[in-house]
Amino acid sequence: MAESVKRVRGVHDILPEDAHLWRFVEWIIHAVMATYGYQEIRTPVFESTELFIRGVGLETDIVNKEMYTFEDKGGKSLTLKPELTAPVVRAYVQNHLDREAPIARLYYLDSLFRQERPQKGRLRQFNQFGVEAIGSSHPEQDVEVIALAYDLCNLFEPEGLSIRLNTIGSTEGRANYLAQLQTALEPYAAELSELDQQRLRANPLRLFDSKSPATQALLDEKAPLISDYLTEEDRQNFNDVQDGLKALNIPFEHDPKLVRGLDYYTRTTFEITSQQLGAQDALCGGGRYDKLVSQLGGPDTPAVGFAAGMERLLLVAGDRLKEKITPRQPDVYLIVLSDDARTSALVRAQELRASGYTVILETLRRSTRAQFREANRVGAKAAVILGEEEMKTDTCTIKNMTSGDQQTVSPEQLSSALDAILHPPAEDASD
Ligand code: HAM
Repeated sequence: MAESVKRVRGVHDILPEDAHLWRFVEWIIHAVMATYGYQEIRTPVFESTELFIRGVGLETDIVNKEMYTFEDKGGKSLTLKPELTAPVVRAYVQNHLDREAPIARLYYLDSLFRQERPQKGRLRQFNQFGVEAIGSSHPEQDVEVIALAYDLCNLFEPEGLSIRLNTIGSTEGRANYLAQLQTALEPYAAELSELDQQRLRANPLRLFDSKSPATQALLDEKAPLISDYLTEEDRQNFNDVQDGLKALNIPFEHDPKLVRGLDYYTRTTFEITSQQLGAQDALCGGGRYDKLVSQLGGPDTPAVGFAAGMERLLLVAGDRLKEKITPRQPDVYLIVLSDDARTSALVRAQELRASGYTVILETLRRSTRAQFREANRVGAKAAVILGEEEMKTDTCTIKNMTSGDQQTVSPEQLSSALDAILHPPAEDASD
């Protein structure tokens, strides 16, 4: 046997036993998004690398270390999308969605790619669902987005969910803070790693993403808090967002250090975490990004959104879902007992499928016993049997796999006989 080719590191296969759970979760997501009036958007798997450099930011971990970037044959630099906010905004601008409606409420379910060190809940190809609400600067829009994220995560009953909320101020207010942050940390620059020194020079907010305990300790000790540098409007806006969440009884806690690792955020930032996840505890992250649309060449348009990891959601909710959701079992296993019945079996299977039944047809030419065993294994509710006798009399035999009852019927009677097995009359409680 030839040596097998293995999956590359950090990606996973979704096998049939799990695929039905994914489909169920996706179905719920589509349904809930519709109740909030969000419309689906799908963007290409790869984009110009420049989109992420300009959108997500050069000093971010995503752009700096994690992107799958390659040159195509024409020498253009392309990147497999590591996140969806920049692509969705690119699509919004390029397709002039601002001209179609005063607000675009968009959602997505998609695969993303980041070359991170794989561990539980951290993959190199992973899936997100999320929304981007482009057009409103008002706090009720932030509240709607957080409520939607919380609603969706909660529906799957994970344990120990909590929301961390912060504001990092508008760009105007933040300039002063960044200058103060730089001044406060500059004397300790030599103690920082090369990467963190570069962050301090170019984009000090990114120091909060640092994995270095020394940097984090320095930030704890010396960094001014962004909440002390907010403008009056920023403060009012943050209060309004908190009031909205309280009115909806959505629990949250203010985390003044939550800046999130992407450059586009302004004002609100939030994360939903689950105790069940361990080190990679963020189930969902998002916030407001009022400058991104104009930075990417569109009109000055405020926006807010979130994205949640599907794999992480299934890590926290998968076992409970598995107990509740069973894969659909076939209605019919079509058993073929003689060579002359094979063509008829193909035709009968197609007819039954066209009438809406799910049908599995025997194609391994196995023994009668093995075929019945297989019908049981796949959980078929009925077996339709075609053999020499049925061919001679132009009939088929139909067996109720639960009761074992068997009867022979004409092709015209097959449907009603099947329906009687698949939908038995409810038992009369008075009997
Ligand atoms: P993010 O925090 O980078 O934000 O990712 C959001 C979620 O995606 C995370 O909370 C996590 O559940 C999941 N995730 C991220 N990286 C991985 C990974 N390597 N493996 C598995 N799951 C992962 C964003 O992507 C922003 N675009 C969110 C946003 C939308 N902000 C505004 N609008």
